[in-house]
Amino acid sequence: LVLPPCDFTVFGGTGDLALRKLLPGLYEQERRGQLPAGTRIIGVSRSPLDDAGYRDLVTRALFDHVAEDHLEAGALHRLTARLHHLSLDIGSADDWHRLHGLLKDRPDRPAGEEATRIHYLAVASELFGPICDRLDALGLVTPECRVVLEKPIGADLASSHQVNDAVGRVFAERQIFRIDHYLGKESVQNLLVTRFANVFLEPIWNSRWVDHVQITVSETLGVAGRGEYYDKAGALRDMVQNHLLQMLCLIAMEPPTYVGGDPVRDEKLKVLQALKPLTGADVDRFTVRGQYTSYGEKVGHPSTTETFVALRAEVQNWRWAGVPFYLRTGKRLARKESTIEVVFKEPPHAMFPHSEGVTTPNRLTVRMQPDEGMQLHMTAKHPGPGGIRLHPASLDLSYADAFDERSPEPYERLLMDVMRGIPTLFMRRDEVEAAWTWTQPVLEQWERAAVEPVRYHPGSEGPAAAARLLARDGRRWQEAG
Ligand code: BG6
Repeated sequence: LVLPPCDFTVFGGTGDLALRKLLPGLYEQERRGQLPAGTRIIGVSRSPLDDAGYRDLVTRALFDHVAEDHLEAGALHRLTARLHHLSLDIGSADDWHRLHGLLKDRPDRPAGEEATRIHYLAVASELFGPICDRLDALGLVTPECRVVLEKPIGADLASSHQVNDAVGRVFAERQIFRIDHYLGKESVQNLLVTRFANVFLEPIWNSRWVDHVQITVSETLGVAGRGEYYDKAGALRDMVQNHLLQMLCLIAMEPPTYVGGDPVRDEKLKVLQALKPLTGADVDRFTVRGQYTSYGEKVGHPSTTETFVALRAEVQNWRWAGVPFYLRTGKRLARKESTIEVVFKEPPHAMFPHSEGVTTPNRLTVRMQPDEGMQLHMTAKHPGPGGIRLHPASLDLSYADAFDERSPEPYERLLMDVMRGIPTLFMRRDEVEAAWTWTQPVLEQWERAAVEPVRYHPGSEGPAAAARLLARDGRRWQEAG
């Protein structure tokens, strides 16, 4: 497939996301020879950098964020040669005219054949509408253009409607790519393959055999450098409303008719719509808000923003009735680890003597990081004569061992999909709004009840209340391994 040249404009081009994820992702594409010939990358930000300054900044970022054995002089040179920087104050008509001039200045293109313009909005979502309006007014939006929106879209249901309306006035839904980088992780995409390209799991993938599901995204990093954004967002908006709910969807969804944009998103939407609303007293019972003890110092003022959330959700449909989905995520925890645990029920009849306390229920662990892979935990016979002794054992699939090819970074994969115009791994407007519909009452109840986050120590497992959330149901969080 030969793609036409692309003008990839990054609003927020000097920001944390651009430097840590987007430009390294584009670099990897460059290294693989996947960037369309004639592609330009235009960083837009308020900083007064010229092209040379931006090239230096990006080169330094690539040295910091690209794997050392991937740094190749040729690819670095080719990528930096594509870079431009435009200083733009969003209120300045002159600055917008300069951007217009740059984007229209493509002497290499035959008249009437413009480059594919991709506008990546790596800025706060209140700026999405104003930026789209300006692009439209300058005639920079053609039917081939695409816009990529970073999450969270809006800060609640009402503001997400406003943002989606504002973007939707300029771009058609098929041109809008709402990114959730968790959907770009190999192991997350592999969930669909594991479930639907194999037969052995699907018959037991329901409330009859599944006891409960756990989704954990635990991080060791704090909010360094992103305090201003994070303090307004908090973990529920930053992680649960998007990444964790998207993973829940992939676990819980029905098989789509084929793997395409709308069939997959239709099925995910049904899951979001089937989530049991958490309201009022249920919010108090089924959610935990935490904050690591040094957070206030980091953001420079006392704050009640949560850096940890644990909660118990339910999908109210035929397949999942009564099966709890426990979700937790937090910053400055003991480990960097993202896992999904599908915990099955006990066998119906215990036929081996002395097996109590020795058998553990079957469990499928999907490891997104570190070391992408899967483990099926089982009970096996301990080898040796003298009766049957039971022992836990596991079938282990490690991506690194099973495949020679490295897993691409999520942004690398997703940016390629944007260039090719493949929408399957992006969120549709109705999904984002359904996720907000479920999240909103939790935010409101926390606010109404002035729920203070419980403090936890950096480097710990998070607040003890998260363990109690499961202990109350006679369950516990699974530790990986
Ligand atoms: C981002 C959040 O979307 O995901 C960050 O805004 C978080 O706060 C990050 O650190 C986690 O991503 P990953 O891929 O490192 O687990």
